[in-house]
Amino acid sequence: MSLFVDACFGRPTPRTPVWLMRQAGRYQPSYRALRERVSFLELCKTPELAAEVTVRAARELDADAAIIFSDILVALEAMGAPLELSEAGPRLAPPLRDRAAVEALAVPDPAASLGFVLDAVRLARRELGELPLIGFAGAPLTLASYLVEGGNSKSYTRLKALIYQEPATARLLFDKLARTVLALLRAQVEAGCAAVQLFDSWGGILAPLDYRELVLPYLAQIFAGLADLGVPRILFATCSSTLLELQRESGADVIGVDWRIDLDEARRRLGPRVAVQGNLEPACLFMEEAALEARVALVLEQARAVRGGDGHVFNLGHGILPETRPERARFLVDAVHRLSRRPPTTAGGGSARLRSPRAGSAAV
Ligand code: CP3
Repeated sequence: MSLFVDACFGRPTPRTPVWLMRQAGRYQPSYRALRERVSFLELCKTPELAAEVTVRAARELDADAAIIFSDILVALEAMGAPLELSEAGPRLAPPLRDRAAVEALAVPDPAASLGFVLDAVRLARRELGELPLIGFAGAPLTLASYLVEGGNSKSYTRLKALIYQEPATARLLFDKLARTVLALLRAQVEAGCAAVQLFDSWGGILAPLDYRELVLPYLAQIFAGLADLGVPRILFATCSSTLLELQRESGADVIGVDWRIDLDEARRRLGPRVAVQGNLEPACLFMEEAALEARVALVLEQARAVRGGDGHVFNLGHGILPETRPERARFLVDAVHRLSRRPPTTAGGGSARLRSPRAGSAAV
């Protein structure tokens, strides 16, 4: 078993595993060079290239897991929604706005229409050796936001209008998305993924009542449908620290936490049954090394609030920013490796040490 899978299941590990969301992407010179030749969707749909990008990112960083290079939106295309990705972001046109459009969506067989993802998994798996590969998909609410808004959105007004004006249509949409996502995640595990992550990036936009009724049942349906595979199931969302207790009810093994909450508080609220992943602010990678190292030490210290740091996968609170210097990302991974060795030495590993803002005025 790997350090990463052990940590996801809360088993003791000699140090904290680390990977970075969007670890393959535009912050890497090698990725930008490849993108001069091929479009983003072509890259996703060419298994040899997708696998190469996946493996290279994990190796360059010395990460403890790789994540298959793809996008949450390719599943929507397979359902029958026309997808374009340009400099301006994703566009799904025409946006889906009524019952007939939802009824027309397919629940695709991943082997038939998303075979390029599964081939990329098989190829990457072969190259990675012992290093675990993470499969992923978007969660129903986040995917629905792209379908209904037709692209990125600030307020999600159209999605919320659908939810409140035509709740039965919204439920039909969420159900179709959940069935699509479950089949895709199962297929990725069968092709060789050691864990799966559900990206519910916009999971924090709803009131708890609506989250319980319209999000949670579909997350639970997906996670229950994966239970027999025995791989860790990670749920990631942003702006969702008010929803942690509800997220735990989804049945996820690991909850991804963003930087808007201290990790020790998140862990205490989640309790010992689930592991956590996170939660460094991605912009901290713009700091100088000593300051960045102090932030890494603080996240690790907060993770120790529950089970001495076991059950923690270090990550950013959201994807790595394209403006990040690659050597800073590598420094971050090395710092996690160095500072998280257990049992902790009293000498400490870092330079400056920061205190949790809620720790009071006593020196640490
Ligand atoms: O983590 C990884 O390294 C795996 C690859 C990955 C991508 N997208 C590659 C990508 C993953 C896991 C995603 C998930 C994803 N995609 C999410 C959920 C996570 C999150 O960031 O909130 C969402 C909401 C999307 C949708 C999406 N894809 C948008 C809004 C955009 C355009 C904005 C942007 O960042 O460029 C994409 C494109 C995209 N997906 C890129 C990459 C590397 C950039 C494409 C390029 O120009 O090369």
